[in-house]
Amino acid sequence: MRKKVILDVDTGADDAIAIMLAATCREMDLVACTTVYGNRHVDQTTTNTLAVLDHIGRQDVPVFKGADRPLVKTNNMDYASDNDGAPSSNLPVKWSHRQEDRQPAADFLVETFRTAKEPISLVALAPLTNIATCLAMEPKFTELVPDIVIMGGAHNGGNMTPAAEFNIWHDPDAAEAVFSAGFKTITLVTLDATHQALVARADCDRLASSKTAASQATAAIIRQLINAYDRSEEQISTGTAPVHDALAVASLLRPNLLRKCQGAVNVETLASPNIGQTTIDLKCKGAAARTVEIALNADGPEFVRYLTVALTGC
Ligand code: BDR
Ligand code: CA
Repeated sequence: MRKKVILDVDTGADDAIAIMLAATCREMDLVACTTVYGNRHVDQTTTNTLAVLDHIGRQDVPVFKGADRPLVKTNNMDYASDNDGAPSSNLPVKWSHRQEDRQPAADFLVETFRTAKEPISLVALAPLTNIATCLAMEPKFTELVPDIVIMGGAHNGGNMTPAAEFNIWHDPDAAEAVFSAGFKTITLVTLDATHQALVARADCDRLASSKTAASQATAAIIRQLINAYDRSEEQISTGTAPVHDALAVASLLRPNLLRKCQGAVNVETLASPNIGQTTIDLKCKGAAARTVEIALNADGPEFVRYLTVALTGC
């Protein structure tokens, strides 16, 4: 049976690859994408999501627009939308003439999990605002969702600030609500793990040599990411880039890509230099209800191999 999945995204470069992976892999049934602000304003992340799905011929996958700002703190994000319907220039995809569904993302998620006849995995690849909104709307949301995979958080330093990872930093209150809610199974794919699953230029060449729309676009996006990382001062080996969100999606079908341990996650929500920091307590002292599966390590070569095979139709 194909694994049913809903992706919550802020597309975005690596979200685009995660979407293409879920949408082209025959082992997965991509039920829908829900969007949220993060990498861009939600109008733009929605436009990008529609354009990516169209690019690979998956106009049948519905898209639901969600939150345009964090629950409580606005941090220092620019919320203005200058979206004119064009996908972001870093995405090698054309305009979509499709519209998102009219139902708000959180309404769709609550309704879908309330009425689901088969298990659906929820994969959150962005600030957790939509998921926290579902928790506020439906007190039983944690019981309705069989498993949730989250790309976010960091044990050994963040990418947004020295302490915080991007997705958690953008809405620490939402993240704290999610980690304390008591979901049955949370898998947290941290920055520590995604930085062990680096894709190199030679891997992009291999992807590009396959002529599928998904593999060609993925190669182009990752090449741009590699160039950006090479220009930045981040300590990543030259000529490589992590593809955070794609690792989270891949791990649904290939759990062995992640090395996991159990721990409790607390999020710093107070206005301080550490806001958005995830404190990962591997001893779970007094926090059984918060215990999640935490991936701090990943099998990089196996991820690259899987990505290459899957995008050409696994
Ligand atoms: C996360 O932040 C976003 O920029 C990426 O799409 C990914 O979800 C990595 O920290
Ligand atoms: Ca993302």
